[in-house]
Amino acid sequence: MHDIAGAFVPLRAILVHVYHSDESESKREYMREELKSLAHTAGVDMVGELFQSMVKDHAKTLIGKGKLEELADFAKAESATLIIFGIELSGSQLRNVEDVCMIRVIDRTQLILDIFASRAKSFEGKAQVRLAELQYALPRLMGQGVTMSRLGAGIGTRGPGETKLEIDRRTIRKDIAKLRRIVIEAGVKRAELRRRRRRLGVYTVGLVGYTNAGKTTLLAHLAKRYGEKQVEPGNDRLFDTLDPTSRRVMYASQTLVVTDTVGFIRELPHHLIDAFRATLEEALDSDVLIHVIDASSPYREEEMKTVYDVVHDVLKTKVPVISVFNKMDLLPDSQDAEFQDHTADQVVRGSILWQDTLSQLLSAIDHVILKRVTLHLQIPSKRSDILAEAYLLGEVSSCHEKDDHLYVDVAIDEKEISHFVDFLSDREIVVEDQWL
Ligand code: GTP
Repeated sequence: MHDIAGAFVPLRAILVHVYHSDESESKREYMREELKSLAHTAGVDMVGELFQSMVKDHAKTLIGKGKLEELADFAKAESATLIIFGIELSGSQLRNVEDVCMIRVIDRTQLILDIFASRAKSFEGKAQVRLAELQYALPRLMGQGVTMSRLGAGIGTRGPGETKLEIDRRTIRKDIAKLRRIVIEAGVKRAELRRRRRRLGVYTVGLVGYTNAGKTTLLAHLAKRYGEKQVEPGNDRLFDTLDPTSRRVMYASQTLVVTDTVGFIRELPHHLIDAFRATLEEALDSDVLIHVIDASSPYREEEMKTVYDVVHDVLKTKVPVISVFNKMDLLPDSQDAEFQDHTADQVVRGSILWQDTLSQLLSAIDHVILKRVTLHLQIPSKRSDILAEAYLLGEVSSCHEKDDHLYVDVAIDEKEISHFVDFLSDREIVVEDQWL
C-alpha cells in the first residue's frame, strides 16, 4: 500500500469478515484465510479481525450500529490505519463506515486491485489494471460525491460537488474507452504471434491455478531444465504473476511455449475478469492447459472449483486439461486416491520441485498433444463455412485452392473428429484420413 505521496507505508489493518447465514463453516474459514493472504500479499500488517453475519437491515454500513462502534473502538485500541472488508461495498457504505471509524476503509476488490497494480509490469498489464480500477470507480462515483482519487492515492477524501463529479465521470469514461482500445490492440498483436507459432508447429501450454499453487515455480523449473531463458522462482505471496510470461521448452522432438497466467481467486469480481480476460485468454487459447493445484492446501477442493468455474463457466474454453496435484512433498503420508480430478483429461501427482514429476508432466502433455489427428480435407471453394469450422476447431497447417476446391490440412483434437464426420455426410466433401 502507498500513501498520498506514493511512498510505502506499512499499514495496520483490521479485517472485517462478513458472512452470509447460509455459508458453511469450511467456506467461512476458506474466505477468512483468503482475505488474510491477500492482505499479506498487499504488504499490510493484520492487527485484528472482526466477524459479522450479513444483516439486510444494515444496508447503510453493512454491519449494525453496535458492531460498527465496536469496530471503531477496536481500530482505535490497535492504532489501526486501515479497515478491510472481505466483501465488496458500495461507495456510500465505504464512506459511512469511514465516517464512524475515522480511518481509511477499503473492500476486497480494492485490495485485489492494489495488488494487481503493484504487480503489473508490462504496458498492457498496467493498462489492464487501470481499466479495472476505473470500471470499479465509475459506479461508485454516481451521485456519491466521491472523487476519482478515492481509488488512487487519496482514499478517504470527499468530492467537491456535482460539477466536478460530472467532469470526473466524463474523464473516466474517456479513459476507459482509451484503455479498452489499448488492451484490444495488444490482444490483436498477441493473436498474430500465436498464429505464427502455430504455423511453425509449436505447441502452446497454458498454466492456470489458484494463486500460490506453484505456476511460476513450475515455469521456472521447466525453463531451467528444458528451456532457454529463466524466470525467477515464485515467492509465497499471492498474485506474483500478472503479465503472462512465456518460455520455450524443448522436450523430445516437441517445442512447447509455456505461458503463466495471473492466479485465480474466489469470486474474482466480474469487472476484473473482463479486464484480465486478455491475459487469461493467452493461456486459455493454448493446445493444453495445466491446472496446478496446491495439494497441501486445506481448501484444495474450493480452490480447484474456483479455477474450474472461471476456466469453464466464465471463459468457456474447451482446451484439454492436465491437473497437477503439486506440493505433495508436504504430504508424505498421503495416498494417490485422495487426489482426484474427474474433470481433467490427465492427472499428475507429486511436486514440481522433483524431476520425476516434471518428466511425468511432460509425458502427459505429449500424450494429450498426440491425441490430435491430422485430417486432409477437400472442400468445395464455396463451402467457406467448413473452412471456418476447421480454423475454429483445429490448427490449419496448409490451405490452397485448385479447381474450385480448397485443400486443407487440419490438426484437430481426436474428440472433435465428429464435427467433420458430420460434414462428410455432405457428398460434396472428400476426406482422406485413415482415422475415418
Ligand atoms: P501466483 O503468482 O500468486 O498465482 O502463485 P503461483 O501459482 O505462481 O505460485 P508460486 O510458483 O509463486 O509458488 C508459491 C510458493 O509455493 C513458493 O514459495 C514456492 O516455492 C512454493 N512451491 C511451489 N511448488 C512447491 C512444491 O512442490 N513443494 C513445496 N514445498 N513448495 C512449493
